[in-house]
Amino acid sequence: MLDQLEALYREALEALEGASDDEALRGWEREYIGRKGKVTLMVRRVGELPPEERPAFGRRANEIKRELQAAFEQRARQIEQEKLARELESGAIDVTLPGRPVQVGRLHPSTQTLRRIYDIWAEMGFQVYLSRDVEDDETNFTLLNIPPHHPARDMWDTFYTTRPGVLLRTHTSPGQIRAMREFAPEPIRVILPGMCYRYEQISARSEIQFYQVEGLAVGHNIRLTDLIGTMSDFVRRLFGPERKVRFRASYFPFTEPSLEVDLDCILCGGKGCSVCKHTGWLEIAGCGMVHPVVLRNGGYDPEEFTGFAFGMGPERITMLLYGIDDIRYFWGNDIRFLEQF
Ligand code: PHE
Repeated sequence: MLDQLEALYREALEALEGASDDEALRGWEREYIGRKGKVTLMVRRVGELPPEERPAFGRRANEIKRELQAAFEQRARQIEQEKLARELESGAIDVTLPGRPVQVGRLHPSTQTLRRIYDIWAEMGFQVYLSRDVEDDETNFTLLNIPPHHPARDMWDTFYTTRPGVLLRTHTSPGQIRAMREFAPEPIRVILPGMCYRYEQISARSEIQFYQVEGLAVGHNIRLTDLIGTMSDFVRRLFGPERKVRFRASYFPFTEPSLEVDLDCILCGGKGCSVCKHTGWLEIAGCGMVHPVVLRNGGYDPEEFTGFAFGMGPERITMLLYGIDDIRYFWGNDIRFLEQF
């Protein structure tokens, strides 16, 4: 029976050579190695042999099955390639066509700017501290030296929730209080990025939601000159070493003194254009020395500690960097806008 098997093996190999298309190949598979194929059936007859011949037959049968299977697969590949070659020759496939572009996702322009900002502050030793979006009235205002009914509250139009005293933060500054209360009396150097919300009429210049990046440094002997040096350094690292920086006196209830940071217009270089509204300067951050009341509310003794804080808007910075003239693009989710970054 072993001889019969060997003969069948040779016959099968020869028949496989002759199979030249898919259909013939499937026919061959059925005839020889399928469930009712000749080889399969013969291998099953091992039981008819005297016991001492069975191991040798079994071993050879397994070998042959494996080889036929491999030969079958190779022939299938060969036939596939021949088919492809024929198609190529007949021009059915145009190999000179350029590849189809693959769609890749990308980061939102605000996220890209945020990450640049993180990198720069990280180089200067500031860690990211995440505070909450839903705040209480006390932390968002009162502890920042803006008591109830104080006219300065008009600076922030607020989304209140139905729960008394609970609101959406109007700025990232309440994070100052939370960071101080967590770290006091250790020195602090953090930035606090996050979404802020304002109950405002949406226009080209103002949105009801936008990012802010707050900064806070608290320690011994931190002075106004440290704030000015740090902000100037930041602006030049982000916008280029040739930029001019200007500080203007301003007012925030939680800093004293308060300053506004301007840089010379990146579009016209200070000559005056529509982007800088013919002033030659672009406003890019608010800042100041942390007010003693705020330090005390955060758990620091203002006789011993000083600090500075700043706040900037990544959307505004992105608008300046790319010459975008309408802030509504950022959260309008228009793919044609987002694709450009
Ligand atoms: N929180 C202020 C605003 O939203 C910005 C600011 C932050 C100013 C920190 C000074 C210091 O307008």
